[in-house]
Amino acid sequence: MPEEKPTPVHDRVPVTSGTEFITSFYRLFKGATLYDRKSVIMGRLTEECLRVVNRIIQREGHLLLKIVRDHFFFNNTRIIASADKYLLFKTFWREMRKRRVGGIEFSEAVTGDHLNDLAYLLSGLEENQENNYLFVEKQLEQRNIESIEVGKLELLKDEEIDGNSEGQKKDSKEVYFRCLGLVREGVETIRQQNPLPIRKAKRLMQSGVDAILQDDTTLLGLANIKNYDGYIFNHSVNVAIYAMALGQRIGVSKKYLSHLGIAGLFHDIGKTKIPGEILDQTGNLSPEASSLLRSHPVIGTEIIMGMKEWGELSARMMEGAFEHHLGYDLTGYPRLSQKKTITLFGRIVAMADFYDALVRPRVPHRFPYASEKIVGMMLERRGKEIDPGIAKVFIHMVGVFPLGTLALLNTNEMGIVTQVQEDTELINRPKVCLLSYSGGEYRKEKVVDLIERDEVSGDYKRSIVKTLDPNEYNINVAEFFI
Ligand SMILES: [Fe+2]
Ligand SMILES: [Fe+2]
Repeated sequence: MPEEKPTPVHDRVPVTSGTEFITSFYRLFKGATLYDRKSVIMGRLTEECLRVVNRIIQREGHLLLKIVRDHFFFNNTRIIASADKYLLFKTFWREMRKRRVGGIEFSEAVTGDHLNDLAYLLSGLEENQENNYLFVEKQLEQRNIESIEVGKLELLKDEEIDGNSEGQKKDSKEVYFRCLGLVREGVETIRQQNPLPIRKAKRLMQSGVDAILQDDTTLLGLANIKNYDGYIFNHSVNVAIYAMALGQRIGVSKKYLSHLGIAGLFHDIGKTKIPGEILDQTGNLSPEASSLLRSHPVIGTEIIMGMKEWGELSARMMEGAFEHHLGYDLTGYPRLSQKKTITLFGRIVAMADFYDALVRPRVPHRFPYASEKIVGMMLERRGKEIDPGIAKVFIHMVGVFPLGTLALLNTNEMGIVTQVQEDTELINRPKVCLLSYSGGEYRKEKVVDLIERDEVSGDYKRSIVKTLDPNEYNINVAEFFI
């Protein structure tokens, strides 16, 4: 299902070199936005990038990175991000596009000072200035740096630069709440024996995919809000969001991403036929009630089978509905009489379902598992109930401290995680919005980046000591995303 064909062996050298360059240069670029040029940290980042650049020059003669539409081309080979580099690539891509820079070229070996100049010049550029590349070129010329060139971002016909982030945020929220409405409507129509509103779902999911592809931070943040009103609706929308966000990281194409979203939205549709008393019960279920509850994947599949006219889409939806309680190792339910393998859609929806159920338990008074614990549980189940590859990508995606986590820092400050780090090696160092307490309530303060280090000692300025339960402090996490 992934869109891309496997890379032929002879193309792997540029892929590896390209990934190394993008990674080390992005770190240097980001460092330039945070630190002073003379700091220990910049020294280290420069050295690392220099090693990569000069090794590539030595081996391949030159280094050319270009942005064409959504893609990076490195020495004329298209580079596809591996799942763990997905966010880093995407962030770098976005930062370059915002500055209208579409290419970086090194024609011979460079010095650390040259690299540093380039990183600070690029990071200091104003957004949306068409002639930024000329400015950088001129600056490089004045410094007698002849081996580096930057190019203009060439926009193809019908191509647009991303809208502003506030606009994106608004779109994401709208998608989230429209999805909630759609699931509500779906549940109602099924109860009245009518077919699911698939045409509407398809249209909505197209916007969902666009929002996910642009920036999934807001949607993932909304999914992490612990909201107990209409649990089943929120749960369904969250599963759809996690599934799509995961799908895009493993290369599922746009068309199938929307199918994945719809499969997520309606994975529990079989529950519409289970009596409410059973669904709402918080204690232990009787054996009969429990087996009735466990029939929802089969019931859901039957409901979807009634919509054969949707062809491929209904086949994908059935996979989500039938397989979402089946483990990768075929444990779970429904019990299978014949050995089969779980489909990609089934594994993705199951992963999303597992996570959402733990991070937002159905029973309101039960304290949700702390995120570190969930990651531990996922690691424990990897290769058994959970597909190992999918678990890995998922952990990279949500981070050890997912969006919306309330954290206590070693500085005794408290904050809410508002952005996961794009560099997966720094997965435990998200961006945090600090909170202050006065007049009986908590207020938003500035956002700090936990990768920031002290320029003299080189130590991290802030680290998370532990996570806290927002309900205990009467903090409404939703406010940070809505
Ligand atoms: Fe379920
Ligand atoms: Fe579910």
